[in-house]
Amino acid sequence: MVKPCLHVDSISSFFFCLLVSSFFVRSLVSLPSPRPDQIEILMAFKNEFPILKCDFSKWPDSEQKTKSWTSKDVKSFDGVVFDSETGVVMELHLGGACLSGSLSANSSLFRLHHLRYLDLSSNYFDSSFLPELGKLTNLEILYLSDMGLAGEIPSSFSSLNRLTKLQLSGNEFIGSFSPLFNLSKLSSLFLGNNLFSGNIPCPLLNLSNLYVLYLSNNLFSGNIPCSLLTLPSLSTLDLSHNHLIDSLETMNCSSSSNLERLDLSYNRLSGRILEPLSKLTNLQELYLSFQNTTDPINFISSLGFKSLEWLDLSGHAISRLNLGSPNLKELYLDNCSLNEFPTFIKDLQKLETLDMGNNRLKGEVPKWLWSMSSLIELYLSQNSFDSFEDKTEMLLNSSLTLLDLRSNAFRGSLPIISPWLIVMLASDNSFTGDIPLSLCNQRFLLVLDLGHNNFSGSIPSCLINSFVQQLDLHNNNLTGRLPDILDKTGSLVTLDVRHNQITGKLPRSLTNCKYLYVLNVEGNKIVDTFPFWLKELPNLRVMVLRSNMFHGPLYSPQHPLSFPQLQMIDISRNKFTGKLPHDYFVNWSTTLISPQEETKPYYMGGSTIVRYDYYPSMYLRNKGINMELEKILDTYRAIDFSENELGGQIPESISLLKSLIVLDLSSNDFSGHIPSSWSNLTSLESLDLSRNQLSGKIPQELATLSFLEYINVSHNKLTGQIPQGTQIVGQSKSSFEGNLNLCGLPLEKSCFGDKAPSTPEAQEPEPPKKEQVLNWQAAVMGYGPGVLFGLAIGHVFYSHKPVLFYKLFRL
Ligand SMILES: *[C@@H]1O[C@H](CO)[C@@H](O)[C@H](O)[C@H]1NC(C)=O
Ligand SMILES: *[C@@H]1O[C@H](CO)[C@@H](O)[C@H](O)[C@H]1NC(C)=O
Ligand SMILES: *[C@@H]1O[C@H](CO)[C@@H](O)[C@H](O)[C@H]1NC(C)=O
Ligand SMILES: *[C@@H]1O[C@H](CO)[C@@H](O)[C@H](O)[C@H]1NC(C)=O
Ligand SMILES: *[C@@H]1O[C@H](CO)[C@@H](O)[C@H](O)[C@H]1NC(C)=O
Ligand SMILES: *[C@@H]1O[C@H](CO)[C@@H](O)[C@H](O)[C@H]1NC(C)=O
Ligand SMILES: *[C@@H]1O[C@H](CO)[C@@H](O)[C@H](O)[C@H]1NC(C)=O
Ligand SMILES: *[C@@H]1O[C@H](CO)[C@@H](O)[C@H](O)[C@H]1NC(C)=O
Ligand SMILES: *[C@@H]1O[C@H](CO)[C@@H](O)[C@H](O)[C@H]1NC(C)=O
Ligand SMILES: *[C@@H]1O[C@H](CO)[C@@H](O)[C@H](O)[C@H]1NC(C)=O
Ligand SMILES: *[C@@H]1O[C@H](CO)[C@@H](O)[C@H](O)[C@H]1NC(C)=O
Repeated sequence: MVKPCLHVDSISSFFFCLLVSSFFVRSLVSLPSPRPDQIEILMAFKNEFPILKCDFSKWPDSEQKTKSWTSKDVKSFDGVVFDSETGVVMELHLGGACLSGSLSANSSLFRLHHLRYLDLSSNYFDSSFLPELGKLTNLEILYLSDMGLAGEIPSSFSSLNRLTKLQLSGNEFIGSFSPLFNLSKLSSLFLGNNLFSGNIPCPLLNLSNLYVLYLSNNLFSGNIPCSLLTLPSLSTLDLSHNHLIDSLETMNCSSSSNLERLDLSYNRLSGRILEPLSKLTNLQELYLSFQNTTDPINFISSLGFKSLEWLDLSGHAISRLNLGSPNLKELYLDNCSLNEFPTFIKDLQKLETLDMGNNRLKGEVPKWLWSMSSLIELYLSQNSFDSFEDKTEMLLNSSLTLLDLRSNAFRGSLPIISPWLIVMLASDNSFTGDIPLSLCNQRFLLVLDLGHNNFSGSIPSCLINSFVQQLDLHNNNLTGRLPDILDKTGSLVTLDVRHNQITGKLPRSLTNCKYLYVLNVEGNKIVDTFPFWLKELPNLRVMVLRSNMFHGPLYSPQHPLSFPQLQMIDISRNKFTGKLPHDYFVNWSTTLISPQEETKPYYMGGSTIVRYDYYPSMYLRNKGINMELEKILDTYRAIDFSENELGGQIPESISLLKSLIVLDLSSNDFSGHIPSSWSNLTSLESLDLSRNQLSGKIPQELATLSFLEYINVSHNKLTGQIPQGTQIVGQSKSSFEGNLNLCGLPLEKSCFGDKAPSTPEAQEPEPPKKEQVLNWQAAVMGYGPGVLFGLAIGHVFYSHKPVLFYKLFRL
């Protein structure tokens, strides 16, 4: 059985659910006439927030729901549900509605006495309104997650005694949550990501209707009370990321538990925890990964766990392991110091996901894995496997959709892989021979990572024209040309062939790959002129041509450059020549030009169709050091033109690139002054101008760049005093050496030494005249934002194990 879409990215499905639910809410806005006073209250509430501020970076599907509200049209009340008989407001669905500021004690909201459902999550209020919520005594469901709320839970909450569901996660509540103990109808309680501390309070055990309890990411310590595990209605309990310990005395649980999902990962439990847990006969999902303890775990089937479907023991030393859980579907044993492949796994006929990564397994991969008919995801990375037992064709019979062989010691030719594979990760091995043509016939393959092997021969044209979206062949010994993209709708999203022996030109047909956003051909033997035509790729974000034989000008009046999304360009170590006009950068991407917004950074990576963790990597020279970025942060911005033969003035328009972080123009022939307008490069962290012909003074303004950690202007013709700011004075001496006449710290030469302060450099001509400065603003205005698409193809950083949290939303 093949289930290629089984593991839809949990985040996107979560958002999908949100979309669906908001659709329902909208269509539920009931037509029976709402009471006029209720309309009036709603309008008053709307007017309390005249300005709606959406923070899409935090809450991507924010929506200004109150904006449409008008007393003239009952249907306009997006997010409101009226009672069909009495016409009162019964439900307010205002999660992510762009509301912010303060909700005063006399807010109209608190006049909606009939309210049973209130969702204010993902809006930003100060906490002062919280006590007033106690007035809404009819509330059954209250969602206040991710609102930046702080302080203790107000005691007035104890009057909300009809509550069945309460979510307070993602805030900064402190102290105890005892006001909630009287809520005997509560069936689900989310308190994760707060700062509650102390033992898990006993009164919690009175919440006999509690169905879901989420207490992760707090500071709870001590034991897990047995009575918590056996709360009569409790089915899901998340205690992960706390400081819990186990002890025999308190772990004497009766077997009358209904607990189905239990997350205890990231605590301080030892193997002893297993015995009491084994009595939880209904347990289906158990997460025990990463306990901060040195006790090895001894997990044997005789203990029970007959219903278990999901078991995570990652990050444990395991002394014995034998699972007799016939229903197991997901088993995570990564980072468990295993020396041998546990054979009991063979008998887990329902197993779908097996993670054996980061252990000490070596030798042959056992062949019985390929005949496990349910297995669809297999992770074997970071071991020392070198071969496959028996014929490699065995893989053909398997139903795997994901195979991760990275960082092992595999030799010989690549095995023939399962026809259902979507993701094939085999980098960092010693595979040899040609890239098998059979890969072209994989109908479902979307991600192929063969980097850091010893493949030779040329890149098969059929491969680059297959459905593969992410193709990584870096650091092999591939020769020949980069094949043409024959299909006008080339499916490539990332293409990394760096460090091979590729010759010829860059194929012009790359412009067919409209979705391409990483192109990396570093370290090959490509002979070509600058690919002006790549600007036709609307999504290109990273372009690396470093260390090839590219030549000719970077500027052509016939091909004005305008990369809509570009954020990293590295064309260093080629033979580019010529001058750049002063307005060279005016049409470059808004990504580089507009200041960066504060967002949660994510790593660039591909599709959201399956869950996997392939991220493109790249080399980058930053702060004078060559480094490999294992993942590329979407917030990174870099321009590296170093080691070419570019001359003339450095284009002043470079100061437009407000979000630029790394700028390297070293080892060229640039002359003229360093423009003072560079003080606009406020994000700059690394600036290398060494080995050019720059003259004049270093502008004082550079000292104002507060993020500048590295500057190197050595081997130019600079004169005068080095600007004295903390960022600059702290630099190494070698960053300023080899100039005509520089003085001041960090150089030893003082500016007020033997000579009088009025040295000749004081009469240096001023930096370029003001009239030369273009109206940059106008040039920039012509650009529309393209951020959303970027987010859509980006891959929010998350572990390949879906966290219980996201599962909860699917209950
Ligand atoms: C709420 O009270 C404040 C003063 O405490 C007043 O300025 C404000 O107008 C009142 N708002 C409403 C909606 O009554
Ligand atoms: C909870 O209820 C009991 C009586 O049922 C009452 O004595 C106690 O004060 C209540 N606690 C809170 C915090 O309201
Ligand atoms: C566990 O409970 C049983 C019965 O309730 C009792 O006989 C036994 O002594 C308890 N064991 C421990 C270690 O507390
Ligand atoms: C592990 O526990 C020790 C004390 O028991 C503590 O000092 C240390 O910070 C913990 N480590 C982690 C990763 O939580
Ligand atoms: C494996 O687990 C140990 C502790 O259990 C931890 O120190 C180490 O960083 C983990 N290794 C990886 C690669 O996750
Ligand atoms: C594939 O499976 C079938 C039936 O399960 C079996 O007859 C056949 O020998 C297997 N092929 C290989 C190459 O193992
Ligand atoms: C590739 O082969 C060469 C020579 O046979 C060897 O030196 C090198 O280590 C191999 N590289 C990898 C990644 O296996
Ligand atoms: C790469 O291939 C060339 C010829 O194709 C060969 O001479 C060379 O030894 C290979 N290098 C490695 C590291 O395998
Ligand atoms: C910027 O774009 C405009 C309009 O396409 C074009 O006329 C101009 O030449 C471009 N400037 C540069 C320096 O590329
Ligand atoms: C630098 O930034 C300031 C303020 O953002 C702006 O007024 C000025 O025109 C900019 N200068 C250049 C050369 O871009
Ligand atoms: C600055 O650049 C010069 C020439 O490229 C180099 O020799 C020197 O080490 C660099 N200084 C630092 C601190 O990186």
